[in-house]
Amino acid sequence: MGKISASILSADFMKLGKEIALAEAGAADYIHVDVMDGNFVPLISLGSYITDRLSGRVGLPLDVHIMAVEPERHINSFATDDTEYIVVHYEAVRHLHRTLEYIRSLGKKNGVALNPATDPRVLDYVIGDIDQVLVMSVNPGFGGQRFIPSSLRKLSELRSMREEAGAGYIISIDGGVYPHNALEIFEAGADMVVSGSGIFAADDPLAALTSFRSVADRYRP
Ligand code: DX5
Ligand code: ZN
Repeated sequence: MGKISASILSADFMKLGKEIALAEAGAADYIHVDVMDGNFVPLISLGSYITDRLSGRVGLPLDVHIMAVEPERHINSFATDDTEYIVVHYEAVRHLHRTLEYIRSLGKKNGVALNPATDPRVLDYVIGDIDQVLVMSVNPGFGGQRFIPSSLRKLSELRSMREEAGAGYIISIDGGVYPHNALEIFEAGADMVVSGSGIFAADDPLAALTSFRSVADRYRP
């Protein structure tokens, strides 16, 4: 069964608690938190003051996506009790293997995000050490961008790589994912979809989540 990670980047911050409750009511699997540093990506978004305040008060685990240079410096501060995944960018991290091990040493699952131009084969030598590979299907930094079609090929490549290596990571995808393209994305190889605008900017966010849910539930890898 596919998983859904609801990105609160597109939530209405005047009612963040309600938006999160809605994600929970619509049976999302994770709350996706986009951390942007104004350096790796142009803008500054959410930080650990937010995840600290969410921790213990959200019924869903947190999936933290760090879009920052030197992400190593921020790992401790996002390892809250509710954090399940801490995802760093391949393009931003200096010592990927060490960082992946470090995240696991904190009792959290790790993840590596790949920008649209990054070849998934760069992960060959750490393939057994990864819990989540996050395929960026937009250039990171903004919600509401258009899905980049070549991401579908990357999903299937990551699936073949996983099979060949007998690795255990989940494959997720982030950017431009909506109920209308979710099935194609799951079929191309995703285990989890991240969606911000597809949920929180929809006319009826709960209905959008319900459609995501029905696609994700129909999908059997
Ligand atoms: C983009 C972020 C995404 C963002 C996706 O850099 O990593 O998680 O919330 O937004 P949508 O679903 O609006 O493309
Ligand atoms: Zn994200």
